[in-house]
Amino acid sequence: MLQGKKILIGITGSISAYKIPLLVRLLVKEGAEVSIIMTQMAREFVTPLTLSTLSGKPVYTDFFDKDDGSWHSHVDLGNWADVFLIAPVSATSLGKMVNGIADNLLIATYLAAKCPVYFAPAMDVDMFHHPSTQSNIQTLIKYGNHLIEPEVGELASGLTGAGRLQEPENILKVLSAHFEKKKALKGINVLITAGPTYESIDPVRFIGNHSSGKMGYAIAHAFAEAGAAVELISGPVNQPANHSNIHITAVVSAKEMEKAVDQKLDKAQIIIMAAAVADYTPEKSATKKIKKKGDDLTLKLFPTTDILKSIGEKKRKEQILVGFALETDDELQNAKKKLRTKNLDLIVLNSLKEKGAGFGFDTNKVTLIDRNGNEETFPLKSKNAVAADILDKIQSLRKDKNA
Ligand code: CTP
Repeated sequence: MLQGKKILIGITGSISAYKIPLLVRLLVKEGAEVSIIMTQMAREFVTPLTLSTLSGKPVYTDFFDKDDGSWHSHVDLGNWADVFLIAPVSATSLGKMVNGIADNLLIATYLAAKCPVYFAPAMDVDMFHHPSTQSNIQTLIKYGNHLIEPEVGELASGLTGAGRLQEPENILKVLSAHFEKKKALKGINVLITAGPTYESIDPVRFIGNHSSGKMGYAIAHAFAEAGAAVELISGPVNQPANHSNIHITAVVSAKEMEKAVDQKLDKAQIIIMAAAVADYTPEKSATKKIKKKGDDLTLKLFPTTDILKSIGEKKRKEQILVGFALETDDELQNAKKKLRTKNLDLIVLNSLKEKGAGFGFDTNKVTLIDRNGNEETFPLKSKNAVAADILDKIQSLRKDKNA
C-alpha cells in the first residue's frame, strides 16, 4: 500500500519522540520513502543518527548546512512529500503552526507544504486539555489539517489521561487509510462546474457575481486526489488547479458553460454544479461600447438555461447529480425545494449569514441534504475540509444507489 509513497515526518520536542524510529522502520518496511525534519528540541529526545540510519536519508533541522553552506529548502521538502506527518507535535509547535511562526525549518516547511498534513499531538494531560491547546487543535482542523488524536493512558509525568502519542502501528494504519482513499474513485469520471459566469453587455462591460471558484476548485481537487478523472468547467476565476487528474475547460458566459457541460455530460458518473451561473443575460452584447447619454439606460435581460435543472430532467439512473443553493431567506425550505424540482441526489446549502462563509473566503459552512431527506449541518471549516465532507457524502450515496 505504501510502496513508493513519499512521507515527510516532522518531529518536535516531546518524550514520545522515542516512538518515531519504530514508525520509520514500519514505513520503510512497507516500501515508503521517509524524510525527516526535527526541531532542535526533538534532538534531545531521539538522535538524528538513529533516524537517518533507519530512513536511509539525511535528517534536517537547520535551514542551512553549517559545514558546506548549502540551503535546505523548506519549499522543496514540502513539494516532495505525498503526505506530511507531524508527530509528536508539542503544545509549543501547535501554537507556532496556528500562528505561522516559522522560526524553524519544520514550521516553515509546514507553512509551505501543499500536501495533506496529519498532526499527532503529545503532551501532558493538563496541557492537552488547556483551552489554548484545544483551540489551536480546532484551528488546525479548520485549516484542513488532519488530527491523529492522542491516546488516553499513563503519561511520562506520572499522570494518567489523554496526551499519549498514538502507537506507531496506529499511525501506520492512518497513513495507509489515507492512501487507500486516494484510489477509491479510480475509473470514475466527475464533471464539476465552478466560478461565476460573465454575461457580456458590450465589449467592455459584463454582468457577473462575486463567486471566487474556491469551493468548486476544492471539490475538483478532492476528487482528483481520490483518483477520479475530473472535467472542470470553469468560469473566469483566479484559482490554480495543479493536478494531473483535472482537465479544465475555461468558459465565460452561461451559454458557453451550458455547451461545455453538454459535451462532457454523457461520460460523467458524478456531476457537481458548484458554479454561480447567471440567471439572466442581455439578449445580445452590443458590438460597440455603449456611450454615455444623458438619459436612463434600461437593459433588458433574458433568462439563461438552468443547466442543473436540464441535467436533472435527463440524467441517467446511475448518475449522481449535486447542486448548490445559496439562500438568504427560508434557507432550508428553499434548498429542499431545489433538491426536488431539479431532481438532485444531493444539495449543498451555503450559508451567507455565517461570518467566514461564502464568496471569497477560504472557509465555508454548509448543510448537506440528500434525496432521502437526510440533513447534516457542518461547522465552519476550510473549503478543502468541506470538499472532503461532500466527497464522503457522495460516496455513501453511490453505495446505496448500487446496493
Ligand atoms: N444553476 C445552473 N444554471 C443556472 C442557474 C443555476 O445550473 N442558469 C445551478 C447552480 O450551479 C447551482 C444551482 O443551480 O448548483 C442553484 O443555483 P441558485 O442560483 O441558488 O438557484 P436558482 O435555481 O437559480 O434559484 P434562485 O436564484 O431563484 O434562488
